[in-house]
Amino acid sequence: MASSSFYSWFAFLYCLFLFTASMASAQLTANFYNRTCPTAMSIIRGGVSTAISRERRMGASLLRLHFHDCFVNGCDASVLLDDSATITGEKTAIPNANSIRGFEVVDTIKAQLESSCPGVVSCADLLTVAARDATVQLGGQTWNVVLGRRDSTTASLSAANSDLPSPFLDLPQLITEFANKGFSAAEMVALTGAHEIGQARCGVFKERIYNETNIDPSFALSMQRNCPRTGGDANLAPLDSTTPTVFDNAFFRNLVNQRGLLHTDQQIYSGGATNAQVDRYRLNSAAFFTDFANAMVKMGNLSPLTGTNGQIRTNCRRPN
Ligand code: HEM
Ligand SMILES: *[C@@H]1O[C@H](CO)[C@@H](O)[C@H](O)[C@H]1NC(C)=O
Ligand SMILES: *[C@@H]1O[C@H](CO)[C@@H](O)[C@H](O)[C@H]1NC(C)=O
Repeated sequence: MASSSFYSWFAFLYCLFLFTASMASAQLTANFYNRTCPTAMSIIRGGVSTAISRERRMGASLLRLHFHDCFVNGCDASVLLDDSATITGEKTAIPNANSIRGFEVVDTIKAQLESSCPGVVSCADLLTVAARDATVQLGGQTWNVVLGRRDSTTASLSAANSDLPSPFLDLPQLITEFANKGFSAAEMVALTGAHEIGQARCGVFKERIYNETNIDPSFALSMQRNCPRTGGDANLAPLDSTTPTVFDNAFFRNLVNQRGLLHTDQQIYSGGATNAQVDRYRLNSAAFFTDFANAMVKMGNLSPLTGTNGQIRTNCRRPN
């Protein structure tokens, strides 16, 4: 009896230990790869730098990949999965098709990580670090990333269609869509500041430059030059027409001048509750940078797979 209760007690403590250990491993940490892949951070930073030196827009594309990953069932690299016989990926979802890019850059960085530390660094963490490094390399402010995300073995085309915001939403719907992911209206405005960099296709801003009235007429006219009323839907224009490849706060100055390119961009400065925040960011880039950094950390924490959930994909395009 005594010995059996000793063993039950021991088993209980052991379970408690395992439980506590698994809780601990469920936390993302700053030094997650310090011992297992000390070169991880420099490999990713170098890969982003090489890509940006070839094409500055790639910084924007990498930042967006992290967003489109995290908003769809959490930051689990599901956005990187190719369609296959067993998987329907997210790449053909309406917000992604013919739009998200940077997969070759991710493949190159992942191959370097695999050759230094096979099977250690997840694709989800790669995207997290690359988004931060791209922002910094284009002139933005840095932030501390926490790591330890693992990769999904599945993707969700339907969640990619439903959970990524459409550029045709009005402010209340934008606020609701971000609230659904746990973000305040203020965090939504800060995150939209990602449109400091990168480009959009004519098809998504055509309605705005031909039919909307809260737009600067000379800006509309200049955008119409490369975006005809019919056709030309894939033609590109910068989201920040003032400093298209620099991560500064010009995006917010543009909004105050009614020079937002997307309908949704202009919505955050259209007389509603978010006007004051846009004015603050326009006058104070440090305030924007700080809020953006904090919101990006929060976005990177959206339901990650940790511990023994998911896997570390060898190739970001398919499960192992
Ligand atoms: C507020 C809701 C948002 C909407 C409706 C939206 C919509 C869009 C659209 C329509 C484009 C152009 C895509 C194309 O034409 O191919 C775009 C580009 C972009 N978006 Fe957003 N977006 C939003 C929020 C965000 C957030 C939160 C981030 C990142 C934190 C982000 C980062 C980017 C970047 C960097 C680009 C340029 C990508 C490139 O040039 O490759 N967006 N977005
Ligand atoms: C180790 O982790 C710390 C954060 O705790 C980080 O600042 C440092 O750069 C890491 N070192 C390496 C070699 O990754
Ligand atoms: C603008 O509005 C007109 C009239 O409602 C409509 O025919 C047209 O398709 C709309 N879009 C563009 C890009 O002109």
